[in-house]
Amino acid sequence: MKAVISSTGLWTPEESITNEELVESFNAYVDIWNSKNSSSISNGKKLELTYSNASFIEKASGVKSRYTISKKSILDPNIMAPRIPKRKNSEPSILAEIGFKAAQNALAKINRNPKDIDAIICACSNLQRGYPAVAVEIQNLLGAQGFAFDMNVACSSATFGIETARCLISGGQAKTVLVINPEICTAHLNFKDRDAHFIFGDVATATLIESDEVCEKEHWEIISSKLITEFSNNIRNNFGFLNHCAPEDDGMIGERGKKGLTDKLFVQNGRSVFKEVVPIVADMIIKECDKNNLQPDNLKRLWLHQANLSMNQLIAKKVLGKTYEKEKTPIVLDEYANTSSAGSIIAFHKYNSDFKNGDIGLICSFGAGYSAGAIFVRKNG
Ligand code: COA
Repeated sequence: MKAVISSTGLWTPEESITNEELVESFNAYVDIWNSKNSSSISNGKKLELTYSNASFIEKASGVKSRYTISKKSILDPNIMAPRIPKRKNSEPSILAEIGFKAAQNALAKINRNPKDIDAIICACSNLQRGYPAVAVEIQNLLGAQGFAFDMNVACSSATFGIETARCLISGGQAKTVLVINPEICTAHLNFKDRDAHFIFGDVATATLIESDEVCEKEHWEIISSKLITEFSNNIRNNFGFLNHCAPEDDGMIGERGKKGLTDKLFVQNGRSVFKEVVPIVADMIIKECDKNNLQPDNLKRLWLHQANLSMNQLIAKKVLGKTYEKEKTPIVLDEYANTSSAGSIIAFHKYNSDFKNGDIGLICSFGAGYSAGAIFVRKNG
């Protein structure tokens, strides 16, 4: 039994923040902080904070803007974080709500009834609670049957979720599986961290994976897949259910991570990530092409994880050659920033309409763990 991708869905928040808006707020925070701490700064006990810069951000990352569910509070120099009002247990949780919207979009595109779904996987970087699983809540919102569960492989959650869906299909557990990636990445981002405050945005994506016995005529056959993990501390977030068991290191206060920042939000050694992850990903793609008797050049498109423009360009050069055609690796991070697991799915969702029967492309993720996932697809129909 073959597994195919029969649809994708996207939900994008209404509001977006430009680099200029973000930097204006950050620099206002710097002024406030420096003025509050002026005596400690002048006696050498604290280091003065320095301004951020919009043109640095675009040059270093390729990001020009990011969508978010909470623009006002992120830009308020006295808050600098999303503010998402607590909801009653009787209301849909925010992660389930945005995941549900992306799922509806994927189902509506091919007029598919939620009753046809056998399984739902909510695969994302940050799950909102311990239990019940957000996926089960989405199952309930959709009115779907079968079973549902959550999984987290950070930025690689979508590709690992798609491969898990493929295995559920080939193992006979399900014929139709929805993989949903609700990513509220602004909530794990420290907007007071000059090195990283520009990195992330919010979004939700969904991918419908089905057995070829039940799928639409037009679909994307999964012809090969590869998952890799290799331990690294270079991207880390120590938030977790054991935080309160170490009261001296509870929540957002207490032991500090890199450069005096809280380690209960995203922290990274960006340079090391860049250097170490690029070869892992390029090597994985080249080896998988070889295994499948494919020339990398035969790939019409690489829908890569969207974290950093130079990183994607370097991976593309290593895989496709120095003079590769830019259309082969579409970029959405300029508009969306890094949306963790959702990035490669947004790229796939937006840049596949020119594919003809038999064309082959690659959905590829990489990120914390380290983790990397490759899903090779061929257009049929
Ligand atoms: N505004 C202005 N200058 C800034 C700045 C900002 N917001 N942030 C950092 N800088 C400065 C630094 O102070 C440093 O100056 P110095 O050399 O005088 O000390 C300089 O810019 C370079 O800083 P660095 O952090 O080394 O930048 P970089 O070129 O490595 O770019 C990243 C930073 C994060 C964009 C880049 O490393 C990256 O994207 N790496 C991959 C990250 C990734 O994919 N992570 C996955 C997350 S899931």
